[in-house]
Amino acid sequence: MTVTTSHPTPCFFFSHGSTMMLGEDSKPGRFWESVGVEAKRRGVKGIVFMGAHWEVTGDAFEVASNPTEPMKQPIGAVEAKKYVNLPCPIDPDLAARVRDLMVAKGIKTKLNPNIMLVHDIYMVLRWMFGSNGPTLPFTVISSNAYYDPWTVVDIGSAVLTPLRDFLTRSHNLYWNKWSNIVFYKDNFAQQEPAAEFAVDFRNVAHDALTQNTGPALRAAAMRLMRHPQYRDAHATDDHFAPVLFVAGAAGGQDDKGPNTAPAECWELINMANTQFQFGEWE
Ligand SMILES: [Fe+2]
Repeated sequence: MTVTTSHPTPCFFFSHGSTMMLGEDSKPGRFWESVGVEAKRRGVKGIVFMGAHWEVTGDAFEVASNPTEPMKQPIGAVEAKKYVNLPCPIDPDLAARVRDLMVAKGIKTKLNPNIMLVHDIYMVLRWMFGSNGPTLPFTVISSNAYYDPWTVVDIGSAVLTPLRDFLTRSHNLYWNKWSNIVFYKDNFAQQEPAAEFAVDFRNVAHDALTQNTGPALRAAAMRLMRHPQYRDAHATDDHFAPVLFVAGAAGGQDDKGPNTAPAECWELINMANTQFQFGEWE
């Protein structure tokens, strides 16, 4: 049964954190699981991802349209049995629909039928839907070489405004200290405080994304890129582009929030895995 609501379906920014988040229990993992349950209960029709690990050269964007099961990029520090047999079929029809919406907005876009899925996508799908794989169609949008914030916000707006019965999802990353994973396979150990830049930028990002709604959310997300600690917190822009995508998707005139951060954990000393929800289910 499809449950109808009087406002847009919520959008999500899922910070996937380290690869170990796939196999270790955590509050973000349980939150992803709850979103999967709620999405099925609400009759959500599909999932449109912008991942942090797929950028293409040039000024065009690509949309994943593999006609057969995509290969998964192997990941370290996780037992292979936890993900190698997870079915993750991409929906080529949804991909074509997303491509058409982007092209209609003047955004150079083409389909790519040969992508490898990266952990930022299949980790979240594993938590959302369990070991039998996603029960909803999904596709993935790339970033391009420019990380132009206005264009990425436009993509979120162009794609998700007409597809608001779909979910969107993104990712975040701060500089890490990897020794706890490399030597101890312990991604949650925090034997020293997080660096000041990590705490400060986590706080300013939290406030910017939860205290703004509608078009102000889009402006706040773009403004974060000019924050003096932005570059310390994001060595490259690839892990921030999905923030812009989701702000474009959830920053329309009809988006009244509430915008919240329902779950969070810290990993590898300096990485805050904050999960954001834009809007509410009812
Ligand atoms: Fe990542």
